[in-house]
Amino acid sequence: MNGTNMNDGNLKNGNLKNGRKIPGRGVLAWTAMLVGLFVVSLTAGLVPAFAGEAPAAVKEMLKKLETQMANENPGFKGFNAVQGQEFFKTRRMNKKENEMISCASCHTEDPRKSGMSKANKPIKPLAPAANPEALTDRRNMEKWFYRNCTQVLERECTAQEKGDFLAFLLSVGV
Ligand code: HEC
Repeated sequence: MNGTNMNDGNLKNGNLKNGRKIPGRGVLAWTAMLVGLFVVSLTAGLVPAFAGEAPAAVKEMLKKLETQMANENPGFKGFNAVQGQEFFKTRRMNKKENEMISCASCHTEDPRKSGMSKANKPIKPLAPAANPEALTDRRNMEKWFYRNCTQVLERECTAQEKGDFLAFLLSVGV
């Protein structure tokens, strides 16, 4: 008697649970997706920098670098954000200063974070996702590429390095 009841109970519970669980998961997934979409559009509406559009200045610069690359190398297939991240993080020996240095030494390894100059001056994040002023001024970009590349690499950055690096900055969001 008891055994039968228990089995019945278990079966009933199991059926009920299964019956509820399958549609329940679907509804949950849809709700999560809708909430996600809502948050994304809300953010986009409130903060124009998050609207998903890269600043015009960096798009123009990337286009020029792409043209330059394609002219030099007909097999060029576009810039690579992963390579750009590697470039950003790689520490090299600066012989003149006798120290190991990388782009991340000043900018931190996360381009969405604020960095710190050698003189302890704060540096705003390089990624447009975190700083609406980032990559919006072509002359500023050229100036700092020149200064920072000669400091870190003891030479200017190549078109490939600049393009990969900018692709990386945009890959963390715009
Ligand atoms: C010694 C510290 C230091 C190092 C190392 C460094 N930077 Fe910078 N970088 C700065 C400072 C300071 C600024 C100017 C920030 C500002 O104007 O708020 C800057 C600005 C920039 C900008 C301009 C961003 C914009 O929005 O226009 C780019 C691009 C840049 N750096 C790239 C690099 C790259 C690539 C490397 C590595 C090759 C590098 N930096 C290494 C200190 C550094």
